[in-house]
Amino acid sequence: MTAPTSGFATAAAAAPIRTAPGRHGQLRGLESAGRSDQFEGRFGRLFRHLHPAEFDETILAALAQAMIADADVPTPEDQVDDEENTGISAGYTYLGQFIDHDLTFDPASSLQKQDDPDSLTDFRTPRFDLDCVYGRGPDDQPYLYQNDGRHFLFGTGLTGSTTDANAKGLPRNTPASGDPARALIGDPRNDENVIVSQLQASMLRFHNRMVDTLGPSTSFTDIQQQVRFHYQWVVLHDFLPTIVGQETMIKIFGKTSDGKINFAAKPDLDFFKPKRRAFMPVEFSVAAYRFGHSMVRPIYRLNQNADRLPIFNLPGQGESLVGFRDFPHNLAIEWELFFNAGNNPPNTGKTRLQPAYKIDTSLVNPLGTLPASIAQAPFQSLAGRNLLRGWRMGLPSGQAVARHMGLTPISDDKLKVGKATEAETPANQSITAISPKFKNNAPLWFYVLAEAQQQFVKNDTPIRLGPVGGRIVAEVFIGLLLDDGNSYLRQDPNFTPNAAFTNASGQFNMIDLLKAARAA
Ligand code: HEM
Repeated sequence: MTAPTSGFATAAAAAPIRTAPGRHGQLRGLESAGRSDQFEGRFGRLFRHLHPAEFDETILAALAQAMIADADVPTPEDQVDDEENTGISAGYTYLGQFIDHDLTFDPASSLQKQDDPDSLTDFRTPRFDLDCVYGRGPDDQPYLYQNDGRHFLFGTGLTGSTTDANAKGLPRNTPASGDPARALIGDPRNDENVIVSQLQASMLRFHNRMVDTLGPSTSFTDIQQQVRFHYQWVVLHDFLPTIVGQETMIKIFGKTSDGKINFAAKPDLDFFKPKRRAFMPVEFSVAAYRFGHSMVRPIYRLNQNADRLPIFNLPGQGESLVGFRDFPHNLAIEWELFFNAGNNPPNTGKTRLQPAYKIDTSLVNPLGTLPASIAQAPFQSLAGRNLLRGWRMGLPSGQAVARHMGLTPISDDKLKVGKATEAETPANQSITAISPKFKNNAPLWFYVLAEAQQQFVKNDTPIRLGPVGGRIVAEVFIGLLLDDGNSYLRQDPNFTPNAAFTNASGQFNMIDLLKAARAA
Protein backbone atom coordinates (compact mmCIF):
# COMPACT_ATOMS: atom_id res chain seq x y z
CA MET A 1 0.00 0.00 0.00
CA THR A 2 1.05 3.57 -0.45
CA ALA A 3 2.77 4.98 2.57
CA PRO A 4 4.49 8.22 3.35
CA THR A 5 7.99 6.93 2.80
CA SER A 6 9.43 10.34 3.56
CA GLY A 7 7.83 10.03 7.00
CA PHE A 8 9.99 7.06 7.83
CA ALA A 9 13.11 8.81 6.61
CA THR A 10 12.22 11.81 8.77
CA ALA A 11 11.54 9.61 11.77
CA ALA A 12 14.77 7.75 11.41
CA ALA A 13 16.76 10.92 11.09
CA ALA A 14 15.15 12.43 14.18
CA ALA A 15 15.72 9.39 16.35
CA PRO A 16 18.58 9.30 18.84
CA ILE A 17 21.64 7.65 17.36
CA ARG A 18 22.90 4.86 19.58
CA THR A 19 26.24 3.23 19.26
CA ALA A 20 25.77 -0.44 18.46
CA PRO A 21 26.95 -2.33 21.51
CA GLY A 22 29.24 -5.29 20.99
CA ARG A 23 27.42 -8.59 21.31
CA HIS A 24 29.17 -11.76 22.29
CA GLY A 25 32.32 -10.74 20.54
CA GLN A 26 30.79 -10.96 17.07
CA LEU A 27 31.85 -8.65 14.30
CA ARG A 28 29.49 -5.75 13.66
CA GLY A 29 27.08 -6.62 10.91
CA LEU A 30 27.22 -10.36 11.32
CA GLU A 31 23.99 -10.36 13.30
CA SER A 32 22.19 -7.98 10.98
CA ALA A 33 18.55 -8.89 10.90
CA GLY A 34 18.05 -9.71 7.29
CA ARG A 35 19.62 -13.14 7.34
CA SER A 36 18.56 -12.60 3.78
CA ASP A 37 21.23 -12.09 1.20
CA GLN A 38 19.21 -9.06 0.12
CA PHE A 39 16.67 -6.78 1.78
CA GLU A 40 14.84 -6.73 -1.53
CA GLY A 41 13.34 -9.30 -3.84
CA ARG A 42 11.99 -9.63 -7.34
CA PHE A 43 8.55 -9.54 -8.88
CA GLY A 44 7.62 -12.02 -11.58
CA ARG A 45 4.67 -13.85 -13.14
CA LEU A 46 3.01 -17.14 -12.21
CA PHE A 47 1.21 -17.51 -15.53
CA ARG A 48 3.74 -16.10 -17.97
CA HIS A 49 2.16 -17.42 -21.13
CA LEU A 50 -1.41 -16.21 -20.42
CA HIS A 51 -2.38 -13.05 -22.31
CA PRO A 52 -2.97 -9.81 -20.41
CA ALA A 53 -6.67 -9.05 -20.06
CA GLU A 54 -7.75 -5.91 -21.94
CA PHE A 55 -9.82 -3.22 -20.20
CA ASP A 56 -10.00 0.56 -20.19
CA GLU A 57 -10.07 3.13 -17.42
CA THR A 58 -13.76 3.92 -17.83
CA ILE A 59 -15.05 0.40 -17.29
CA LEU A 60 -12.64 -0.24 -14.43
CA ALA A 61 -13.77 2.99 -12.73
CA ALA A 62 -17.42 1.91 -13.15
CA LEU A 63 -16.70 -1.54 -11.68
CA ALA A 64 -14.74 0.01 -8.78
CA GLN A 65 -17.62 2.32 -7.99
CA ALA A 66 -20.11 -0.56 -8.02
CA MET A 67 -17.86 -2.51 -5.62
CA ILE A 68 -17.93 0.21 -2.94
CA ALA A 69 -20.90 -0.27 -0.63
CA ASP A 70 -23.14 2.62 0.43
CA ALA A 71 -22.32 4.15 3.80
CA ASP A 72 -24.26 2.15 6.40
CA VAL A 73 -25.52 3.05 9.83
CA PRO A 74 -23.45 0.78 12.14
CA THR A 75 -25.29 -2.35 13.28
CA PRO A 76 -25.82 -2.32 17.09
CA GLU A 77 -23.26 -4.55 18.80
CA ASP A 78 -25.76 -7.00 20.20
CA GLN A 79 -27.11 -7.71 16.71
CA VAL A 80 -25.57 -9.76 13.92
CA ASP A 81 -24.43 -7.71 10.95
CA ASP A 82 -25.31 -9.50 7.68
CA GLU A 83 -21.93 -8.79 6.11
CA GLU A 84 -20.07 -10.61 8.90
CA ASN A 85 -18.22 -13.82 8.00
CA THR A 86 -18.90 -16.63 10.47
CA GLY A 87 -15.76 -18.42 9.21
CA ILE A 88 -13.12 -15.73 9.83
CA SER A 89 -12.69 -13.37 12.77
CA ALA A 90 -11.56 -9.76 12.35
CA GLY A 91 -8.00 -10.32 13.61
CA TYR A 92 -7.15 -12.33 10.48
CA THR A 93 -7.77 -9.24 8.33
CA TYR A 94 -4.93 -7.38 10.03
CA LEU A 95 -2.70 -10.42 10.38
CA GLY A 96 -3.24 -10.70 6.61
CA GLN A 97 -2.22 -7.08 6.12
CA PHE A 98 0.82 -7.59 8.34
CA ILE A 99 1.87 -10.65 6.29
CA ASP A 100 1.41 -8.66 3.09
CA HIS A 101 3.83 -6.05 4.43
CA ASP A 102 6.34 -8.76 5.29
CA LEU A 103 6.27 -10.14 1.74
CA THR A 104 5.64 -7.41 -0.76
CA PHE A 105 6.07 -3.69 -1.28
CA ASP A 106 5.80 -2.01 -4.63
CA PRO A 107 6.29 1.74 -4.22
CA ALA A 108 7.39 2.22 -7.82
CA SER A 109 4.95 0.92 -10.43
CA SER A 110 2.61 3.29 -12.23
CA LEU A 111 -1.18 3.47 -12.15
CA GLN A 112 -1.12 5.46 -15.35
CA LYS A 113 0.92 3.33 -17.72
CA GLN A 114 1.71 -0.32 -18.31
CA ASP A 115 4.28 -1.89 -16.00
CA ASP A 116 6.66 -4.78 -16.48
CA PRO A 117 6.92 -6.83 -13.29
CA ASP A 118 10.27 -8.23 -14.38
CA SER A 119 11.77 -4.77 -14.15
CA LEU A 120 10.25 -3.96 -10.75
CA THR A 121 11.84 -4.47 -7.37
CA ASP A 122 9.93 -5.86 -4.40
CA PHE A 123 11.10 -3.65 -1.52
CA ARG A 124 10.49 -6.56 0.84
CA THR A 125 12.07 -9.97 0.64
CA PRO A 126 9.45 -12.45 -0.60
CA ARG A 127 10.04 -14.50 2.56
CA PHE A 128 8.37 -14.86 5.91
CA ASP A 129 11.40 -13.33 7.58
CA LEU A 130 9.76 -10.43 9.45
CA ASP A 131 11.88 -7.86 7.67
CA CYS A 132 8.99 -5.48 8.40
CA VAL A 133 9.76 -6.01 12.10
CA TYR A 134 13.54 -6.29 12.23
CA GLY A 135 14.27 -3.71 9.57
CA ARG A 136 17.89 -4.12 8.62
CA GLY A 137 18.82 -5.19 12.15
CA PRO A 138 20.31 -3.65 15.29
CA ASP A 139 23.61 -2.71 13.69
CA ASP A 140 22.12 -0.87 10.74
CA GLN A 141 19.01 0.56 12.47
CA PRO A 142 20.05 0.85 16.14
CA TYR A 143 17.27 3.41 16.82
CA LEU A 144 14.73 0.53 16.73
CA TYR A 145 16.45 -1.32 19.61
CA GLN A 146 17.20 -0.82 23.28
CA ASN A 147 20.78 -0.16 24.36
CA ASP A 148 21.45 -3.88 24.80
CA GLY A 149 20.90 -4.29 21.03
CA ARG A 150 18.61 -7.26 21.76
CA HIS A 151 15.25 -5.86 22.91
CA PHE A 152 13.02 -3.63 20.80
CA LEU A 153 12.08 -0.14 21.99
CA PHE A 154 8.44 0.86 22.60
CA GLY A 155 6.43 4.02 22.81
CA THR A 156 3.63 5.08 25.11
CA GLY A 157 1.74 2.66 27.37
CA LEU A 158 -1.80 2.07 26.12
CA THR A 159 -4.87 1.66 28.33
CA GLY A 160 -8.39 0.25 28.11
CA SER A 161 -7.74 -3.46 27.55
CA THR A 162 -9.15 -5.73 30.26
CA THR A 163 -6.65 -8.47 29.33
CA ASP A 164 -3.41 -6.56 28.66
CA ALA A 165 -2.34 -4.21 31.44
CA ASN A 166 1.11 -3.95 29.81
CA ALA A 167 -0.07 -2.81 26.35
CA LYS A 168 2.39 -0.59 24.54
CA GLY A 169 2.37 1.44 21.36
CA LEU A 170 5.11 1.78 18.79
CA PRO A 171 8.05 4.07 19.38
CA ARG A 172 7.55 7.38 17.57
CA ASN A 173 9.53 10.45 16.71
CA THR A 174 8.77 13.83 18.27
CA PRO A 175 8.15 16.05 15.28
CA ALA A 176 8.00 19.80 15.09
CA SER A 177 4.53 21.06 16.02
CA GLY A 178 1.80 20.17 13.61
CA ASP A 179 3.41 17.13 12.04
CA PRO A 180 2.14 13.67 13.01
CA ALA A 181 4.43 11.48 15.16
CA ARG A 182 5.64 8.75 12.80
CA ALA A 183 6.34 5.25 14.05
CA LEU A 184 9.98 4.13 14.16
CA ILE A 185 9.58 0.66 12.67
CA GLY A 186 10.94 -1.63 10.00
CA ASP A 187 8.06 -0.93 7.60
CA PRO A 188 6.16 2.37 7.84
CA ARG A 189 3.00 0.73 6.43
CA ASN A 190 2.56 -1.20 9.69
CA ASP A 191 1.32 2.03 11.24
CA GLU A 192 -1.33 2.56 8.56
CA ASN A 193 -4.20 1.96 10.97
CA VAL A 194 -4.46 1.56 14.73
CA ILE A 195 -5.03 -2.21 14.49
CA VAL A 196 -2.06 -3.18 12.31
CA SER A 197 0.02 -0.74 14.36
CA GLN A 198 -0.74 -2.68 17.55
CA LEU A 199 -0.15 -5.98 15.76
CA GLN A 200 3.32 -4.71 14.88
CA ALA A 201 3.84 -3.66 18.52
CA SER A 202 2.77 -7.17 19.60
CA MET A 203 5.32 -8.76 17.27
CA LEU A 204 8.02 -6.55 18.84
CA ARG A 205 6.81 -7.63 22.28
CA PHE A 206 6.84 -11.29 21.22
CA HIS A 207 10.48 -10.86 20.19
CA ASN A 208 11.28 -9.31 23.59
CA ARG A 209 9.44 -12.16 25.32
CA MET A 210 11.60 -14.60 23.36
CA VAL A 211 14.75 -12.72 24.42
CA ASP A 212 13.70 -13.08 28.08
CA THR A 213 12.55 -16.70 27.70
CA LEU A 214 15.73 -17.93 25.99
CA GLY A 215 18.05 -15.90 28.22
CA PRO A 216 21.31 -14.00 27.77
CA SER A 217 23.30 -16.94 26.48
CA THR A 218 21.16 -17.14 23.32
CA SER A 219 22.46 -14.99 20.47
CA PHE A 220 20.31 -12.38 18.75
CA THR A 221 20.43 -14.48 15.59
CA ASP A 222 19.06 -17.54 17.38
CA ILE A 223 16.32 -15.49 19.07
CA GLN A 224 15.34 -14.00 15.75
CA GLN A 225 15.24 -17.45 14.21
CA GLN A 226 12.90 -18.71 16.94
CA VAL A 227 10.61 -15.69 16.52
CA ARG A 228 10.48 -16.32 12.78
CA PHE A 229 9.82 -20.03 13.20
CA HIS A 230 6.90 -19.32 15.57
CA TYR A 231 5.47 -16.75 13.16
CA GLN A 232 5.88 -19.11 10.19
CA TRP A 233 4.13 -21.82 12.18
CA VAL A 234 1.15 -19.49 12.75
CA VAL A 235 1.11 -18.55 9.06
CA LEU A 236 1.00 -22.19 7.95
CA HIS A 237 -1.10 -23.81 10.69
CA ASP A 238 -3.55 -21.03 11.58
CA PHE A 239 -3.74 -18.19 9.04
CA LEU A 240 -3.60 -20.18 5.81
CA PRO A 241 -6.22 -22.86 6.66
CA THR A 242 -8.51 -20.11 8.01
CA ILE A 243 -8.33 -18.20 4.73
CA VAL A 244 -8.19 -20.96 2.09
CA GLY A 245 -10.00 -23.70 4.02
CA GLN A 246 -9.22 -27.35 4.77
CA GLU A 247 -10.09 -28.62 1.30
CA THR A 248 -7.44 -26.57 -0.52
CA MET A 249 -4.86 -27.36 2.18
CA ILE A 250 -5.60 -31.08 1.87
CA LYS A 251 -5.27 -30.90 -1.93
CA ILE A 252 -1.74 -29.60 -1.39
CA PHE A 253 -0.62 -31.56 1.69
CA GLY A 254 -2.89 -34.61 1.62
CA LYS A 255 -4.51 -35.80 4.82
CA THR A 256 -3.66 -37.82 7.87
CA SER A 257 -5.52 -41.03 8.75
CA ASP A 258 -7.88 -38.98 10.93
CA GLY A 259 -8.72 -36.62 8.06
CA LYS A 260 -6.59 -33.64 9.11
CA ILE A 261 -4.11 -31.67 6.96
CA ASN A 262 -0.90 -33.68 6.76
CA PHE A 263 1.60 -30.92 7.41
CA ALA A 264 4.38 -33.52 7.55
CA ALA A 265 3.88 -34.51 3.89
CA LYS A 266 5.73 -33.04 0.92
CA PRO A 267 3.40 -30.35 -0.49
CA ASP A 268 2.22 -30.77 -4.05
CA LEU A 269 2.57 -27.41 -5.82
CA ASP A 270 1.27 -27.21 -9.38
CA PHE A 271 1.84 -23.58 -10.31
CA PHE A 272 4.43 -21.86 -8.11
CA LYS A 273 7.68 -23.62 -8.89
CA PRO A 274 10.41 -20.99 -9.21
CA LYS A 275 13.27 -22.45 -11.22
CA ARG A 276 16.00 -20.51 -9.49
CA ARG A 277 15.29 -18.02 -6.70
CA ALA A 278 11.76 -17.40 -5.49
CA PHE A 279 10.06 -14.18 -6.58
CA MET A 280 6.88 -12.33 -5.72
CA PRO A 281 4.21 -13.19 -8.32
CA VAL A 282 2.11 -10.20 -9.37
CA GLU A 283 -0.96 -12.44 -9.68
CA PHE A 284 -0.62 -12.76 -5.88
CA SER A 285 0.43 -9.23 -4.90
CA VAL A 286 -1.78 -7.30 -7.30
CA ALA A 287 -4.83 -9.60 -7.31
CA ALA A 288 -5.35 -12.73 -5.21
CA TYR A 289 -3.79 -11.54 -1.95
CA ARG A 290 -5.73 -8.29 -2.11
CA PHE A 291 -8.80 -10.37 -1.15
CA GLY A 292 -8.24 -8.95 2.34
CA HIS A 293 -9.58 -5.55 1.31
CA SER A 294 -13.09 -7.04 1.25
CA MET A 295 -12.69 -8.32 4.85
CA VAL A 296 -12.25 -4.83 6.31
CA ARG A 297 -15.16 -3.84 8.59
CA PRO A 298 -16.40 -0.26 8.70
CA ILE A 299 -16.24 -0.06 12.51
CA TYR A 300 -14.35 -1.85 15.30
CA ARG A 301 -14.38 -2.14 19.07
CA LEU A 302 -10.78 -2.25 20.29
CA ASN A 303 -11.50 -2.83 23.97
CA GLN A 304 -14.43 -2.97 26.35
CA ASN A 305 -13.88 0.54 27.66
CA ALA A 306 -13.46 2.81 24.64
CA ASP A 307 -16.15 3.62 22.06
CA ARG A 308 -16.31 1.73 18.76
CA LEU A 309 -14.58 3.68 16.01
CA PRO A 310 -14.77 3.69 12.20
CA ILE A 311 -11.72 2.38 10.37
CA PHE A 312 -11.37 5.71 8.55
CA ASN A 313 -13.27 8.99 8.45
CA LEU A 314 -13.29 11.88 6.08
CA PRO A 315 -11.67 15.05 7.51
CA GLY A 316 -13.95 16.74 10.03
CA GLN A 317 -16.00 13.60 10.69
CA GLY A 318 -14.42 12.79 14.05
CA GLU A 319 -12.07 10.21 15.56
CA SER A 320 -11.23 7.07 13.61
CA LEU A 321 -8.66 4.28 13.51
CA VAL A 322 -6.53 5.99 10.87
CA GLY A 323 -2.82 5.57 11.52
CA PHE A 324 0.48 7.31 10.74
CA ARG A 325 0.07 9.30 14.00
CA ASP A 326 0.10 8.98 17.77
CA PHE A 327 -3.50 7.77 18.26
CA PRO A 328 -5.54 8.13 21.50
CA HIS A 329 -3.87 6.13 24.27
CA ASN A 330 -7.09 4.52 25.56
CA LEU A 331 -7.27 2.27 22.47
CA ALA A 332 -5.22 -0.73 23.66
CA ILE A 333 -6.47 -3.77 21.75
CA GLU A 334 -8.10 -6.63 23.61
CA TRP A 335 -7.18 -9.36 21.15
CA GLU A 336 -9.99 -11.64 22.42
CA LEU A 337 -12.33 -9.26 20.53
CA PHE A 338 -10.43 -10.16 17.32
CA PHE A 339 -9.39 -13.82 17.65
CA ASN A 340 -11.04 -16.90 19.11
CA ALA A 341 -9.08 -17.70 22.25
CA GLY A 342 -11.14 -20.79 23.03
CA ASN A 343 -12.38 -19.17 26.23
CA ASN A 344 -13.73 -15.87 24.97
CA PRO A 345 -16.10 -14.20 27.45
CA PRO A 346 -19.86 -14.62 26.89
CA ASN A 347 -21.16 -12.17 24.31
CA THR A 348 -22.61 -9.11 26.02
CA GLY A 349 -22.17 -6.85 23.00
CA LYS A 350 -19.01 -5.17 24.26
CA THR A 351 -17.30 -8.55 24.72
CA ARG A 352 -18.28 -9.85 21.30
CA LEU A 353 -15.67 -11.59 19.11
CA GLN A 354 -15.90 -9.45 15.96
CA PRO A 355 -16.04 -11.36 12.67
CA ALA A 356 -14.28 -10.11 9.56
CA TYR A 357 -16.53 -8.97 6.74
CA LYS A 358 -17.23 -11.57 4.07
CA ILE A 359 -14.87 -12.16 1.18
CA ASP A 360 -17.15 -10.85 -1.54
CA THR A 361 -17.22 -8.26 -4.30
CA SER A 362 -18.11 -5.45 -1.92
CA LEU A 363 -15.75 -3.14 -0.04
CA VAL A 364 -16.93 -0.98 2.83
CA ASN A 365 -17.61 2.65 2.12
CA PRO A 366 -14.55 4.18 3.87
CA LEU A 367 -12.31 2.31 1.39
CA GLY A 368 -13.98 4.21 -1.46
CA THR A 369 -12.19 7.40 -0.43
CA LEU A 370 -9.00 6.58 1.46
CA PRO A 371 -7.54 9.30 3.70
CA ALA A 372 -4.95 11.45 1.94
CA SER A 373 -2.29 10.15 4.35
CA ILE A 374 -2.77 6.73 2.70
CA ALA A 375 -3.56 7.44 -0.95
CA GLN A 376 -3.33 10.63 -2.97
CA ALA A 377 -6.10 11.96 -5.23
CA PRO A 378 -7.25 11.10 -7.83
CA PHE A 379 -6.61 7.46 -6.88
CA GLN A 380 -8.27 7.33 -3.47
CA SER A 381 -10.62 4.40 -4.11
CA LEU A 382 -8.94 1.19 -3.00
CA ALA A 383 -11.11 -0.83 -5.41
CA GLY A 384 -10.10 1.55 -8.20
CA ARG A 385 -6.41 1.24 -7.36
CA ASN A 386 -6.55 -2.57 -7.28
CA LEU A 387 -8.34 -2.81 -10.64
CA LEU A 388 -6.12 -0.25 -12.33
CA ARG A 389 -2.94 -1.81 -10.93
CA GLY A 390 -3.98 -5.26 -12.19
CA TRP A 391 -4.61 -3.95 -15.68
CA ARG A 392 -1.39 -1.89 -15.78
CA MET A 393 0.53 -4.95 -14.63
CA GLY A 394 -0.92 -6.98 -17.53
CA LEU A 395 -2.62 -9.65 -15.42
CA PRO A 396 -4.64 -12.35 -17.21
CA SER A 397 -8.40 -12.51 -16.65
CA GLY A 398 -9.78 -14.63 -13.84
CA GLN A 399 -11.38 -16.95 -16.41
CA ALA A 400 -8.04 -17.48 -18.21
CA VAL A 401 -6.39 -18.44 -14.91
CA ALA A 402 -9.26 -20.78 -14.00
CA ARG A 403 -8.99 -22.55 -17.39
CA HIS A 404 -5.23 -22.80 -16.99
CA MET A 405 -5.79 -24.50 -13.64
CA GLY A 406 -8.08 -27.04 -15.30
CA LEU A 407 -11.22 -25.53 -13.76
CA THR A 408 -14.43 -24.54 -15.53
CA PRO A 409 -14.64 -20.73 -15.31
CA ILE A 410 -17.63 -19.32 -13.46
CA SER A 411 -20.23 -18.12 -15.95
CA ASP A 412 -20.69 -14.36 -16.33
CA ASP A 413 -24.22 -14.39 -14.95
CA LYS A 414 -22.86 -15.78 -11.66
CA LEU A 415 -20.08 -13.20 -11.34
CA LYS A 416 -22.11 -10.78 -9.24
CA VAL A 417 -21.14 -7.33 -7.96
CA GLY A 418 -22.15 -6.51 -4.39
CA LYS A 419 -22.61 -7.91 -0.91
CA ALA A 420 -23.05 -11.60 -0.13
CA THR A 421 -26.14 -11.04 2.01
CA GLU A 422 -29.66 -12.40 1.80
CA ALA A 423 -31.02 -8.85 1.43
CA GLU A 424 -28.75 -7.78 -1.43
CA THR A 425 -27.93 -10.96 -3.35
CA PRO A 426 -31.17 -11.08 -5.42
CA ALA A 427 -30.56 -7.56 -6.76
CA ASN A 428 -26.80 -7.83 -7.34
CA GLN A 429 -26.03 -7.26 -11.02
CA SER A 430 -23.63 -9.37 -13.00
CA ILE A 431 -20.27 -7.90 -14.02
CA THR A 432 -21.33 -7.79 -17.69
CA ALA A 433 -24.15 -5.41 -16.77
CA ILE A 434 -21.42 -2.91 -15.83
CA SER A 435 -19.85 -3.34 -19.28
CA PRO A 436 -20.11 -6.02 -21.99
CA LYS A 437 -16.31 -5.75 -22.24
CA PHE A 438 -16.19 -7.87 -19.09
CA LYS A 439 -17.76 -10.82 -20.96
CA ASN A 440 -15.63 -13.86 -20.17
CA ASN A 441 -13.03 -11.29 -19.15
CA ALA A 442 -13.15 -10.44 -15.43
CA PRO A 443 -10.22 -8.72 -13.67
CA LEU A 444 -8.38 -11.35 -11.63
CA TRP A 445 -8.86 -9.56 -8.28
CA PHE A 446 -12.60 -9.27 -8.91
CA TYR A 447 -12.80 -12.89 -10.03
CA VAL A 448 -11.10 -14.14 -6.86
CA LEU A 449 -13.65 -12.26 -4.74
CA ALA A 450 -16.63 -13.33 -6.88
CA GLU A 451 -15.39 -16.91 -6.79
CA ALA A 452 -15.34 -16.87 -2.96
CA GLN A 453 -18.85 -15.41 -3.05
CA GLN A 454 -20.13 -18.52 -4.89
CA GLN A 455 -20.12 -20.24 -1.48
CA PHE A 456 -22.86 -17.92 -0.22
CA VAL A 457 -26.11 -19.66 0.68
CA LYS A 458 -27.38 -17.61 3.60
CA ASN A 459 -26.10 -14.87 5.87
CA ASP A 460 -24.24 -17.19 8.21
CA THR A 461 -22.49 -19.30 5.52
CA PRO A 462 -18.73 -19.15 6.20
CA ILE A 463 -16.85 -17.79 3.17
CA ARG A 464 -13.19 -18.50 2.39
CA LEU A 465 -11.17 -18.21 -0.81
CA GLY A 466 -12.30 -20.46 -3.67
CA PRO A 467 -10.28 -22.79 -5.92
CA VAL A 468 -8.44 -20.12 -7.98
CA GLY A 469 -7.81 -17.57 -5.21
CA GLY A 470 -7.13 -20.20 -2.56
CA ARG A 471 -4.71 -22.08 -4.77
CA ILE A 472 -2.72 -18.97 -5.70
CA VAL A 473 -2.48 -17.81 -2.08
CA ALA A 474 -1.67 -21.26 -0.66
CA GLU A 475 0.90 -22.13 -3.34
CA VAL A 476 2.71 -18.82 -3.01
CA PHE A 477 2.82 -19.05 0.80
CA ILE A 478 4.05 -22.64 0.82
CA GLY A 479 6.38 -22.15 -2.16
CA LEU A 480 8.02 -19.14 -0.49
CA LEU A 481 8.47 -21.06 2.76
CA LEU A 482 10.00 -24.00 0.91
CA ASP A 483 12.32 -21.80 -1.14
CA ASP A 484 13.63 -19.96 1.91
CA GLY A 485 16.66 -21.85 3.20
CA ASN A 486 16.13 -20.15 6.57
CA SER A 487 12.47 -21.18 7.05
CA TYR A 488 11.63 -23.80 9.64
CA LEU A 489 10.43 -26.12 6.87
CA ARG A 490 14.01 -26.16 5.54
CA GLN A 491 16.09 -25.66 8.70
CA ASP A 492 14.14 -27.73 11.17
CA PRO A 493 11.14 -29.58 9.68
CA ASN A 494 10.44 -31.18 13.06
CA PHE A 495 10.19 -27.80 14.77
CA THR A 496 7.29 -27.40 17.19
CA PRO A 497 6.42 -24.20 19.08
CA ASN A 498 7.90 -23.61 22.53
CA ALA A 499 5.69 -25.30 25.15
CA ALA A 500 5.83 -22.10 27.23
CA PHE A 501 3.63 -20.44 24.60
CA THR A 502 1.17 -23.17 23.52
CA ASN A 503 -2.48 -23.33 24.61
CA ALA A 504 -4.13 -26.00 26.76
CA SER A 505 -4.53 -28.29 23.70
CA GLY A 506 -0.86 -27.89 22.81
CA GLN A 507 -1.66 -25.66 19.81
CA PHE A 508 0.03 -22.42 18.88
CA ASN A 509 -2.24 -20.01 17.02
CA MET A 510 -2.02 -16.27 16.50
CA ILE A 511 -3.93 -15.62 19.72
CA ASP A 512 -1.33 -17.68 21.61
CA LEU A 513 1.49 -15.61 20.12
CA LEU A 514 -0.36 -12.44 21.16
CA LYS A 515 -0.91 -13.78 24.67
CA ALA A 516 2.77 -14.71 24.99
CA ALA A 517 3.66 -11.18 23.87
CA ARG A 518 1.68 -9.69 26.77
CA ALA A 519 4.35 -10.66 29.26
CA ALA A 520 6.82 -8.29 27.58
C1 HEM B 1 -7.64 -1.07 6.39
C2 HEM B 1 -6.98 -1.97 5.75
C3 HEM B 1 -6.20 -1.78 4.48
C4 HEM B 1 -5.95 -0.65 3.76
C5 HEM B 1 -6.40 0.77 4.01
C6 HEM B 1 -5.16 -1.03 2.62
C7 HEM B 1 -4.72 -0.16 1.66
C8 HEM B 1 -3.90 -0.51 0.62
C9 HEM B 1 -3.39 0.40 -0.37
C10 HEM B 1 -3.71 1.89 -0.46
C11 HEM B 1 -2.61 -0.31 -1.21
C12 HEM B 1 -1.85 0.21 -2.44
C13 HEM B 1 -2.75 -0.03 -3.61
C14 HEM B 1 -2.08 0.29 -4.93
O1 HEM B 1 -1.59 1.39 -5.08
O2 HEM B 1 -2.06 -0.58 -5.82
C15 HEM B 1 -2.61 -1.68 -0.75
C16 HEM B 1 -1.88 -2.70 -1.32
C17 HEM B 1 -1.96 -4.00 -0.94
N1 HEM B 1 -2.77 -4.52 0.04
FE1 HEM B 1 -3.89 -3.47 1.33
N2 HEM B 1 -4.93 -2.38 2.67
C18 HEM B 1 -5.56 -2.87 3.79
C19 HEM B 1 -5.61 -4.19 4.19
C20 HEM B 1 -5.10 -5.24 3.49
C21 HEM B 1 -5.31 -6.63 3.80
C22 HEM B 1 -6.17 -7.10 4.97
C23 HEM B 1 -4.64 -7.36 2.87
C24 HEM B 1 -4.53 -8.85 2.70
C25 HEM B 1 -5.00 -9.75 3.54
C26 HEM B 1 -4.01 -6.42 1.97
C27 HEM B 1 -3.23 -6.77 0.89
C28 HEM B 1 -2.59 -5.86 0.07
C29 HEM B 1 -1.60 -6.24 -0.94
C30 HEM B 1 -1.09 -7.64 -1.26
C31 HEM B 1 -1.19 -5.05 -1.54
C32 HEM B 1 -0.07 -4.89 -2.58
C33 HEM B 1 1.22 -4.59 -1.81
C34 HEM B 1 2.43 -4.28 -2.67
O3 HEM B 1 2.87 -5.14 -3.44
O4 HEM B 1 2.96 -3.13 -2.58
N3 HEM B 1 -4.31 -5.16 2.38
N4 HEM B 1 -3.41 -1.77 0.35
